[in-house]
Amino acid sequence: MAAKPETVVAIYPGSFDPITNGHLDLIERGSRLFDRLIVAILQNEEKESPLFTVEERMEMLRDVVGGYANVEIDHFHGLLVDYASARGATVLLRGIRAISDYEKELQMALMNRRLRPEIETLFLMAGEAYSFISSRLVKEVIGLGGNIAELVPPSVEVRLRERFNAAGAGVQRRLR
Ligand code: PNS
Repeated sequence: MAAKPETVVAIYPGSFDPITNGHLDLIERGSRLFDRLIVAILQNEEKESPLFTVEERMEMLRDVVGGYANVEIDHFHGLLVDYASARGATVLLRGIRAISDYEKELQMALMNRRLRPEIETLFLMAGEAYSFISSRLVKEVIGLGGNIAELVPPSVEVRLRERFNAAGAGVQRRLR
């Protein structure tokens, strides 16, 4: 069995399209648990047609996590465990909101363990105040004219408003 590394590096992977206050809560807590936390955006442009490009998502993340000295923002494509291994990480950090998250997360954690048993997936329970927030719902609500204050950081709200105002119905159609 491998010994505990001197520096524990964790990856917090996700789509972050865009970052929400739920993600931010996990980043803050993760930054206290690990020596280094790498927030890694999945580059899924071809398949998923996200609202924001990877560069835009990186900028939004940098804007809000700039204050954490041990948090880095990066992006990856391909297998998450291969990326984690290349970055010298031994932990994958994921948040669980409700029971409905559990099944997908369990499948991913077991698959990742099978691929690279030396990398552990650790789950943190989402903060109660954030347990209903998802990027998908935030986009749906703002797209339909609802209030998303306190669901995303203010700088992200500005970006969302710009995107929806600029593209109007076109973006709303893509979200359906
Ligand atoms: O925020 P999301 O969209 O729930 O994050 C999902 C993510 C990025 C963690 C997941 O899709 C992923 O790890 N993709 C990389 C591809 C991969 O490694 N697949 C096999 C293991 S499940």
